[in-house]
Amino acid sequence: MSEIFLQPSNESFASSFDASTAILYFLDILRMIIFLLWALAFFEQLRSFLVVLPFLLYYWVEGMVKAFLPLGILPRKSVNGDLVLITGAGSGLGRLLAIEFGKLGSRLVLWDINEKWNSETKEILRKQGVEAHAYTVDLSDRKQIYEQAEKVKNDVGDIDILINNAGIVSGKKLFDCPDVLMEKTMAVNTIALFFTAKAFLPSMLARNRGHVVTIASMAGKAGVAGLVDYCASKFGAVGFSESLRAEVLSLQKDVEVTTVCPYYINTGMFDGVATYSPNVLPILEPEYVVDRIVEAVLTNQPELYLPRFSYLVAAIRGMIPTKAADVLANYYGVNKTMDHFVGRPKTG
Ligand SMILES: NC(=O)c1ccc[n+]([C@@H]2O[C@H](COP(=O)([O-])OP(=O)(O)OC[C@H]3O[C@@H](n4cnc5c(N)ncnc54)[C@H](O)[C@@H]3O)[C@@H](O)[C@H]2O)c1
Repeated sequence: MSEIFLQPSNESFASSFDASTAILYFLDILRMIIFLLWALAFFEQLRSFLVVLPFLLYYWVEGMVKAFLPLGILPRKSVNGDLVLITGAGSGLGRLLAIEFGKLGSRLVLWDINEKWNSETKEILRKQGVEAHAYTVDLSDRKQIYEQAEKVKNDVGDIDILINNAGIVSGKKLFDCPDVLMEKTMAVNTIALFFTAKAFLPSMLARNRGHVVTIASMAGKAGVAGLVDYCASKFGAVGFSESLRAEVLSLQKDVEVTTVCPYYINTGMFDGVATYSPNVLPILEPEYVVDRIVEAVLTNQPELYLPRFSYLVAAIRGMIPTKAADVLANYYGVNKTMDHFVGRPKTG
């Protein structure tokens, strides 16, 4: 009697065996199919990656070599006769850039909020026999940018090279900085870039030639104490310039985009800052910076970091954990650099 209950009938045993075996077979086949699909996808990815790998390595090496070459070795394009618009042309880098492009035969359009400084730059250029046109523009005012851009196009013509150079710094810590000053910093250093590009880039794209240069900063690659608003605005400028380059690349036009990220420069804008690692991160001389910027434009260099040690800073910053980066920043004294900042007197 008990055997009857304990022993399953042969028939039901056979059918349950068949069903479970079939399920196991089915699962095995499914697993094999998934594995095959995964292997195919993996090898397809590997194959397509192997196609780009040589280009990746080539441009990596090319970029490193170019970054460390002395000036004047790479072939240069001509900017003779080009119309170059420089924002913030009334002083510092802007004025020096105008003088250098003037020497190369370019015609200059000078934009600055400070009429006096700007006309001084124009006078210097005129004395050197360079064609120069000065416009008073407040870059924190979108309307003024578009109005003056139209005026430039009507008075002088289409811009070939746009150099977004104007910039301001409050030099105040977050809670000491008035809101309006922070808004102004973002407006001049970042938001104005949208409008100058929208005003002048379309004609470059239509003519399939041109160059947009943005003077950002190393403060756009790594945060620094005492520069919260400035760093935010320069991170924005770097983001703007990199994305603009990607958009222009996707349009397959011969328009170049260059992002410039210098460390502190002795122009007056950052008077009072100190460096605690003068060998690797010195305060730069404006003439040196301008020579490198002009070279970057003439050789269509997409990125320029100054001094060269900054390439290493940016690479390491992207690879190591934040707390390890803190140790390095403290070692190089980066977060103390703004402690005695004075800056230049108000530009008006
Ligand atoms: N000096 C540095 O240490 C340093 C370091 C890295 C990056 N930068 C960047 O380089 C660029 C040039 O700096 P610089 O040292 O020659 O400064 P600068 O102060 O000598 O020149 C800036 C110019 O921009 C003009 N400007 C300011 N606000 C303006 C506005 N609202 N509209 C129009 N023009 C305006 C000023 O009148 C001035 O002529 C800036 O973008 C700056 O952020 C400077």
